[in-house]
Amino acid sequence: HGTSRVNEKGHLEIGGVDTVELAEMYGTPLYIYDVALIRARARAFKEAFRRHGVRAQVAYASKAFSSIAIVQLAAEEGLSLDVVSGGELYTAIAAGFPSERIHFHGNNKSRDELEMALKHGVGCIVADNFYELELIEQLAVPSGRAVPVLLRVTPGVEAHTHDYILTGQEDSKFGFDLNNGQADEAFRRVMGSPAFQLLGVHCHIGSQIFETAGFVLAAQKVFTKMAEWNKEHGFVPSVINLGGGFGIRYTEEDDPIPVSAYVDCIVEEVKKQAEAHRLPLPEIWIEPGRSLVGDAGTTIYTIGSRKDVPNVRTYIAVDGGMSDNIRPALYGAKYEAVIANRVLGERTETVSIAGKCCESGDMLIWDLALPEAKPGDYLAVFCTGAYGYSMANNYNRLPRPAVVFVENGDAQLVVKRETYEDLIQHDLPFKAKVRK
Ligand code: LLP
Repeated sequence: HGTSRVNEKGHLEIGGVDTVELAEMYGTPLYIYDVALIRARARAFKEAFRRHGVRAQVAYASKAFSSIAIVQLAAEEGLSLDVVSGGELYTAIAAGFPSERIHFHGNNKSRDELEMALKHGVGCIVADNFYELELIEQLAVPSGRAVPVLLRVTPGVEAHTHDYILTGQEDSKFGFDLNNGQADEAFRRVMGSPAFQLLGVHCHIGSQIFETAGFVLAAQKVFTKMAEWNKEHGFVPSVINLGGGFGIRYTEEDDPIPVSAYVDCIVEEVKKQAEAHRLPLPEIWIEPGRSLVGDAGTTIYTIGSRKDVPNVRTYIAVDGGMSDNIRPALYGAKYEAVIANRVLGERTETVSIAGKCCESGDMLIWDLALPEAKPGDYLAVFCTGAYGYSMANNYNRLPRPAVVFVENGDAQLVVKRETYEDLIQHDLPFKAKVRK
């Protein structure tokens, strides 16, 4: 997929660059991003809205992968940016991302984070709870400026997805409940204070979703509420944000629909709802993360040890694991892989790919058909671009990998590999107290 192909040496090539050469140049584990594919996804989302002639913002949910370079690429492609922490906001600002296109999320934004967001004049704050409203008010009232906000609501829509990543159901830590008066109270609170400029409503129903029904239902519920607020208080929403969550293909088991199909469905429903409730058509915002960068990322590992458990299985170990991709261990996520230096080799054995962390659960792929793998071969795991590097950690004191962008035959290092010195840079020596 994307610009991936097999070159004349039988090596996996991405963006016109030989991944084996990249592995040799930058070491492994190595994250490689297909920039052309990210651009294509971004354009597909934007183009789908453009065809409908509606005003829209497509915000890249940078939690999927945040770094200076990806934020700059998002800016170049005319995307907006969803950030969920001071750290993601800091990255966006450092990358020079236009602050008016930054949307600040989170269920427990601190006073410092909110202050930072207001100082930089972010485009909107997606307000999640009453405590946050209080903090924003305290910070904003003295400045005399109204803060643009969306109210995040929990519509009680259950998207068909993995349990751990359900965020739109009723029993959720996120947002104001739509059905029990919480959202109404938040609405009154915001409308009654000069600290806020209420743009509209936000909801996010889950992640890795393959159906459009959840988005339709969410749009209906949100609109019903906004129409109620319109009748009772004359509120006219200028934005509806339906979150992210568009699914991608990790393995053959996944059957995603094209990006444009989600957009078509969302736009049609929002139009229908606006008409039915006699409201002007609001701007439609979405915030995809995974579907912009997920299948653009590939991780290259070096294969090392092998263990045969007779009549049971063969473990092939790589030089990374749950430290650079925690998704298999955390969610049972599945991936496909090839030997990057012998892509077309005959797949003669079935092996399980183990990470190098000291946990039995650190397995990347179970029962993968591969050509016979030797130490020093490179394993390419596909579709690691979302929630891979961004959830990487230093378990077992493994340095986090480097990240390379490839496009049109060029490779650019965009995140350096961590060094052992990096690992101890914040450590301080223990000073034994000297007794007098
Ligand atoms: N907007 C909000 C409010 C979100 O909570 C999320 C994801 C997104 C947008 C982007 O969703 P996406 O388009 O990427 O599905 N770590 C998990 C995924 C957690 C998603 C959290 N929220 C994983 O690796 O599958």
